[in-house]
Amino acid sequence: MAVGVFDSGLGGLTVLDAVARRLPEVPFVYFGDNAHAPYGVRTHDDIFNLTCAATQRLWDEGCDLVILACNTASAAALKRMQETWVPPTKRVLGVFVPLIEALTERQWGDNSPPREVAVKHVALFATPATVASRAFQRELSFRAIGVDVEAQPCGGVVDAIEQGDEILAEALVRSHVEALKRRMPAPEAAILGCTHYPLMQHVFQDALGPNVKVFSQANLVAESLADYLTRRPEMLGSGQVSKFLTTGDAASVSSKATQFMRKSVRFEAALA
Ligand code: DGL
Repeated sequence: MAVGVFDSGLGGLTVLDAVARRLPEVPFVYFGDNAHAPYGVRTHDDIFNLTCAATQRLWDEGCDLVILACNTASAAALKRMQETWVPPTKRVLGVFVPLIEALTERQWGDNSPPREVAVKHVALFATPATVASRAFQRELSFRAIGVDVEAQPCGGVVDAIEQGDEILAEALVRSHVEALKRRMPAPEAAILGCTHYPLMQHVFQDALGPNVKVFSQANLVAESLADYLTRRPEMLGSGQVSKFLTTGDAASVSSKATQFMRKSVRFEAALA
C-alpha cells in the first residue's frame, strides 16, 4: 500500500516528512533525481522526460499513486503527463493546488467562480522554470480575483542546497527577497513555490519580516493527500516498504539529507 513521492532532489523531503507524520501507517517510497537537479534551469521537454522516468521507477516499486513534490515538475510536466502518458490505473498529483486553496481560503473541490480574497499582494518565490510557466498565476486566477502576484525566480538556491552549502543558500535567499521587495515593498503573503525552500524558511521569514505570512506546501499537501486517500483508498499501491532512492551518489545524498532534515536519512541507489 505504498505511495511514491518524487522530487528533483532533496526538497521533496520536506513534503515527505509531513505526509509520513500525517499518515504513519502508509509506507512511502521517495525518489530524488539528484543526478539531474536542478530541474529549474532545464527545458520543459527535459523536465517531462526526467519526471516520467522517475514516476515509472516509483510505479515499479508498487506505488500506483505518485506525488510530484516538485513545483517545477508540477508546472512544466504534470498536465502533459496526465493528458498523454499516465494510464487509467495510475495517478500522478502535483503540489500547487493545495497551496492555492489555502491562500484563497477554499475547501478541496470548491469549484465556484473566482472571488475576492483577503490577500491582495503576494510574493512568489520559485525556480526560473516555475516562474516562466506562470502556472501559479493560472491556478490562482481560477479561484481569486484582484490578487497582484510578484514572482521572483530564485536562481542558484536549489543548487546551493543540493551542494549542502547552507551559507550560500542563505545569502542567495536574502538577495532574492531584497530584489522582490524593490518591486513589491509590502507583500501580505509569500509563497515558497519550490519544495527546497522550506529548508530555508527561517531565512525567508527573517528577510521578509514578521508581518508577511509565509505559505509553504508540506502540511497542506499532507492534509490534501489524507483527504484524497479517504476518497480513493484503492490508489494505495502494492508496495510494502518505505525507502529512499536516488539517482545521485547514495552516500553523499544521505549525508546532505541528514544535514538538512536534522535526522538520519539513508538513501539507496535507484538504479542498483
Ligand atoms: N524542489 C523543486 C521544486 O519544488 C526544485 C526544482 C529544481 O530542481 O530546480 O521546484
